[in-house]
Amino acid sequence: MVATKQFDLQQFLATRTDAVNRALDKFLPSEKTKPATIHKAMRYSLFAGGKRMRPAVLLAAAEACGGKGSDAMPLACAVECIHTYSLIHDDLPAMDNDDFRRGKPTNHKVFGEGVAVLAGDALLTQAFEIAAQCKKFPRYPHNKIILEIAKASGSLQLIAGQVADLEGEGKKLSVDELKFIHERKTSALLCCSIRLGGMSANCSAAQLKALTAFGYNVGLAFQVIDDILDVTQTSEQLGKTAGKDVAVQKATYPSIVGLEKSRKIAEQLTAKAFAALKIFKGNAVALEALAEYLLKRNK
Ligand code: IPE
Ligand code: IPE
Ligand code: MG
Ligand code: MG
Ligand code: MG
Repeated sequence: MVATKQFDLQQFLATRTDAVNRALDKFLPSEKTKPATIHKAMRYSLFAGGKRMRPAVLLAAAEACGGKGSDAMPLACAVECIHTYSLIHDDLPAMDNDDFRRGKPTNHKVFGEGVAVLAGDALLTQAFEIAAQCKKFPRYPHNKIILEIAKASGSLQLIAGQVADLEGEGKKLSVDELKFIHERKTSALLCCSIRLGGMSANCSAAQLKALTAFGYNVGLAFQVIDDILDVTQTSEQLGKTAGKDVAVQKATYPSIVGLEKSRKIAEQLTAKAFAALKIFKGNAVALEALAEYLLKRNK
């Protein structure tokens, strides 16, 4: 793979993460706003130190299509709220039962299960409140933006993946069944983020198609790598409990096809993602650099 000649990804991530954090801070009610518990809980997970990859790919997609970061920012914040809500709920005892997330005790460990459920609900709703504040993009009016987010997060996509993930515990799934889960629980929101970036730049139908192919493949690779890291990294490195998938017999790529083949699959998916960027003729360097980074990441 030959990505990212003179592209400073560290600098891109540092500046974009900073801008996203500032925007999120403005959109969210302050910790003191009553009822304070819920706003503390929402902010606790939102500002716990996530990688901000969905906002990053969204902003990079907007740039690839010639858009402005400020136009894309509400959508970048919206997808991070949805992602964070999904993690709070994913960690609940009734789901993956995790005690550690983003290097800190999970939301329910700090605030209790009731408030954690509500903090997730509130972040999901907050996402739509923020998205509704984006400006009107000529080809993508608000109803299209809201539909895009609702579909990716709903019972046919993210939730469908989470349901199948839960039901797959302890079962021996086929690669196709596992792919079904990954497409929904992870790729759907990543792909949606990338498409929203394009939409915020008023992208053409051809650009949106290319971003969709890129996002689908990067999203799948992202979850394959997540499965690999669960086996190969420490809890300290990940900021969440490593080795959990094996412990609870989750269906994962390493458990079904082994580590080496899993790495090959992630590489192949990333190569497919790269190929989709051809139509941007060198204007998608940030997206290329991000795809490569997501493949090689160690957390
Ligand atoms: C973890 O996502 C959950 C998955 C969908 C695999 P991230 O690895 O992006 O988590 P944060 O946002 O950096 O905490
Ligand atoms: C989480 O997948 C996917 C969503 C939250 C939608 P995982 O359960 O594999 O994520 P981690 O490993 O807990 O971060
Ligand atoms: Mg899970
Ligand atoms: Mg989990
Ligand atoms: Mg995982």
